Amino acid sequence: MESSRRLLPMQGHTRGNRSAATCHYKCGDACAQPYSNTSENAYFKDIADAALSRRKVLGLGALGAAALVVGPQRLSAPAAQAGTAPVTPGSGKLPFTAIGPVSRSVDTMSVPEGYDWRAIIRWGDPLFGHSPNFDAANQSARAQSQQFGYNCDYLDILPDGENGNTGVLVANHEYTNEEMMFDPQWLAGHPDEARRTAMAAHGFSVVEITRRWNDRRWSYVRGNGRNRRLTLDSEFTVDGPAAGSALLRTKDDPQGLRISGTLNNCAGGTTPWGTVLTGEENFDQYFRGRGTEQEARYGIKPEETERGWEHTEPRFGLHHEGYENEAHRFGWIVEIDPQDPESIPVKHTSLGRFKHEGANVRIAENGKVIAYSGDDSRFEYLYKFVSHETYREGDRAHNMRLLSAGDLYVATFAGNSPAEQIDGSGAVPADGSFDGTGRWVPLVQDGVSKVEGMSVDEVLVFTRLAADRAGATKLDRPEDVEPSPVTGKVYVALTNNTDRGETGTEGATEVSPRLRNRDGHVLELGENPQDATATDFVWNILLVAGDPRFDSSTYFSGYPAEKVSPISCPDNLAFDSLGNLWISTDGAPSTIGYSDALHKVTLEGEQRGRVEQFLAVPTGAETCGPVVRDEERSVFVAVQHPGEGGTYAEPQSLFPDFVASPVRAKRGEFHGPRPSVVQVYRRGWNFPRSN
Ligand code: FEO
Ligand code: CA
Ligand code: CA
Repeated sequence: MESSRRLLPMQGHTRGNRSAATCHYKCGDACAQPYSNTSENAYFKDIADAALSRRKVLGLGALGAAALVVGPQRLSAPAAQAGTAPVTPGSGKLPFTAIGPVSRSVDTMSVPEGYDWRAIIRWGDPLFGHSPNFDAANQSARAQSQQFGYNCDYLDILPDGENGNTGVLVANHEYTNEEMMFDPQWLAGHPDEARRTAMAAHGFSVVEITRRWNDRRWSYVRGNGRNRRLTLDSEFTVDGPAAGSALLRTKDDPQGLRISGTLNNCAGGTTPWGTVLTGEENFDQYFRGRGTEQEARYGIKPEETERGWEHTEPRFGLHHEGYENEAHRFGWIVEIDPQDPESIPVKHTSLGRFKHEGANVRIAENGKVIAYSGDDSRFEYLYKFVSHETYREGDRAHNMRLLSAGDLYVATFAGNSPAEQIDGSGAVPADGSFDGTGRWVPLVQDGVSKVEGMSVDEVLVFTRLAADRAGATKLDRPEDVEPSPVTGKVYVALTNNTDRGETGTEGATEVSPRLRNRDGHVLELGENPQDATATDFVWNILLVAGDPRFDSSTYFSGYPAEKVSPISCPDNLAFDSLGNLWISTDGAPSTIGYSDALHKVTLEGEQRGRVEQFLAVPTGAETCGPVVRDEERSVFVAVQHPGEGGTYAEPQSLFPDFVASPVRAKRGEFHGPRPSVVQVYRRGWNFPRSN
């Protein structure tokens, strides 16, 4: 007989970077476990030396490095001083005066003066004409599979046409928090149905949205033909070199070509051809393993899982005969066509298997498509995929195959300052920058494995192990990786790594310059402007996060630290139409003590490095999926896990409806928070009539 479900035995696990409940449900207490990268990769100095000798071989030398620089690497002295000059509050089409940091107990959206907000869609909202209305006291897997899922993360707003008044909203549903979702008595009495309901609350939603001609406020449309829910029961296919591989076969799918469902979808990216990429992230926590080396490298443990799904669906127990490979079918980048509800989403094995935060693509100068992706765990790596075929404007069917075949690389970084100047305190080295060069090391190239002793299938299914052997550089939890549509420079959010420098781990390096990196940092990569598919790049650190009022290890590209908004745990990235970077955070309440937030960061000119806080999310929540649509004076965010830490009976947030109901509470009924997609819009502004 199965053991009863254990609830939240994890207080004290959080290592000071996020709430205990978030750690528990989102990542399976990943930070409380030993980090899974115990490989003995070449340490930084070795890589630096190798990169240096390679530069000599290439004949690049200092001149070659300079040619690769595509943006300001640091401010000149006059520019640095210019930060002290009077500045106009928020430039461009979204003028705002930065809000101050918000207490983590505030249970509402905090937005700048002149802005309002509203929820477009909430957990449980019915998507189809026949869908039941949300009723927390009468949940079922069937109802949930017809409603908006839980814990929205990646988000995009895709209007039909440039300024269309119809469109679709797409959103991931990363994970579930059963303590907050379900009546505890029902959960205890119906473990299988509760698990199936939780499975149905994972996945992905496509929802038609509409607005009036002069109104920027979007509403979702129940029952529209484009509405779609993808859950763990939905059919997915798989392509690329590992499709059909023996490593992907199970007794339910002897061909290794059809996968049921998607899991723990975190961030993502929308392609130039209008499809959506979503990253399968912390999939390990859903599987009970057998104790193999490969499972351990991905964090899969041989013990019974917390969610107990292996008791309801045998495939989640890798020790069950015929399901040994089931976990190999998760951890991929998935491509979804949001315009065709009949289309079968594709898991692209060419992009490798790891804990994909997401993926973002750009089209290189030669027409090839590049996808960047981070593996979000401590001491994991940064990857780049380059397609074999080239982009064809207007040929959607062709473009939807671009991620099916190509080369996969992993990043190595070398600093240009002497190692003794990187002391782990965050002190900027004598040359004024954390910066250097990097190289993309091939794992698979031209259909051939470049990793000794591993086949192409093995490299793509066990990508972490392949990257270990390739000597990849260990980073501080690479989250979103996004190229600027304006400059082409690539930004990498490194959310934190409080284990850096702990016994037995890698210490500070120029690309990871802070020991016990609680607040994270953001990298800026410059690819070769003539050929972004090249394997050399330059890099520098844009900002080292924290609250500069109390933390001297912060750095903002030379911008005066006393003039920035405190920022911690950078996670998801977006750009506005002027090329400013917008950073959402995940973990600030437990580090700098304020609610998670969305910040605008100026990248170019005299104010480079200036951080301005635009909004804060309600208590317990994380800011996800930022979308900045300044042409309609709006910013959209997914408010994930509001009130986390509370329970069904004793919620800690009432977002977004704020209906405190003592009567319902007394009856033990749900009156708590619902993860939602929110639009923040400038008050009193309408589209010009010509629109
Ligand atoms: Fe799901 Fe890496 O955040
Ligand atoms: Ca340097
Ligand atoms: Ca994330």
